[in-house]
Amino acid sequence: MKDWRVTLVNSSNRVVREPKSLMRLQVEDHELMEREAAEALMALLKEIEAGDGIVAVSGYRSEEEQKEVYAQSLRENGAEFTKKYVALPGHSEHQTGLAIDLGERREYVDYIAPEFPYTGLCGRFRENAARYGFIERYPKGKEDITGIAHEPWHFRYVGREHAEAMQREGLTLEEYCERISANNA
Ligand code: DAL
Ligand code: ZN
Repeated sequence: MKDWRVTLVNSSNRVVREPKSLMRLQVEDHELMEREAAEALMALLKEIEAGDGIVAVSGYRSEEEQKEVYAQSLRENGAEFTKKYVALPGHSEHQTGLAIDLGERREYVDYIAPEFPYTGLCGRFRENAARYGFIERYPKGKEDITGIAHEPWHFRYVGREHAEAMQREGLTLEEYCERISANNA
């Protein structure tokens, strides 16, 4: 049976797994994540000595919350932006508790699209992320496959083994899941 950690959620795959045990991150903004993912994230932040330099902007969202995020983005950012950056309610991996949007601490941190650069502390986070089971979920150049624009801030917990394999082979979760299915066929 397929590992729950690599459950695929996108525009063609609805959320089917609710989180089993949500845990509050001991990191600002004290968002919720599935326990295993929350513990991995906090261990990673500790290893890179993030201190309060990285903010956990948005973790678990209920379907109702995703509806609100979608509606608010439509109002504030318009349809084109929203379609590119916000998943339809029922189709957001934030609903699984396995996704986290991270922001570099600044005076203003955007809720939908926080700044999370490739250098400095955030760069260190990226270098160590796969070892703790996290992947950048919506990479540049793979927009046609993920259906979402490049999101440098959105990380998805898939567990160490899968994250390292995906990183090694440069695969998105869509491509990785397809490969797993092919191998198990
Ligand atoms: N920003 C991601 C795609 C979401 O809304 O789930
Ligand atoms: Zn996100």
